[in-house]
Amino acid sequence: MIRGLSVILYFKIMSKKIVILASGDGSNAEAIMRHFDSSTKIEVSSIISNNRQAGVFDRAKRFRVPCLWMDKNSFESDVVLDFFLTEQPDLIVLAGFLWKIPASLVQTFPNKIINIHPALLPKFGGKGMYGAHVHRAVKESGDTNTGITIHYVNEYYDEGGFIFQAQVEVVPADTADTIAQKVHQLEHKHFPVIIEQLLTQ
Ligand code: GRF
Repeated sequence: MIRGLSVILYFKIMSKKIVILASGDGSNAEAIMRHFDSSTKIEVSSIISNNRQAGVFDRAKRFRVPCLWMDKNSFESDVVLDFFLTEQPDLIVLAGFLWKIPASLVQTFPNKIINIHPALLPKFGGKGMYGAHVHRAVKESGDTNTGITIHYVNEYYDEGGFIFQAQVEVVPADTADTIAQKVHQLEHKHFPVIIEQLLTQ
């Protein structure tokens, strides 16, 4: 029993830690938790959400990952920095997180914060370009492809260095909703794998 406990503690201490920030449904957070669920090397140690109603809370519960709610004042104060300094994550993953990351956090964790954007940046990025807004803009543009961009986070929306992009075709029959579905499939397929690569390379 004691030996079993020591083994668990050993893996806990040795494993790399991911903290996810999510504002909404959390399907990407779930794909990441599922991917690392049985890993002894990488774990999702916690999730932070700014939205008490977010679907990500239920998803986190199913994977027994602590999910914390943080209000805007805390997020923009030293509370968030203190949390991350205590937690010491190896990677901070924004998975549909809508608030801008404070400069203090970006500076304290250089190249350790990544985001997924549901389009091929630098197109369809920047302030206000999130979720359905992006997919509607893609539809209206008449572009024949869209995709995902996984990138580092800096002080500006969607401007950090690219890590990975993948494309999917947009056909005339597509609506903003079907584009969103195609993009989500790409996200779930690639995001956990890219995270694993970043943490093991
Ligand atoms: C994803 O499309 C992601 O690219 C964007 O927000 C969406 C979040 O979806 N940043 P979900 O909450 O993971 O389902």
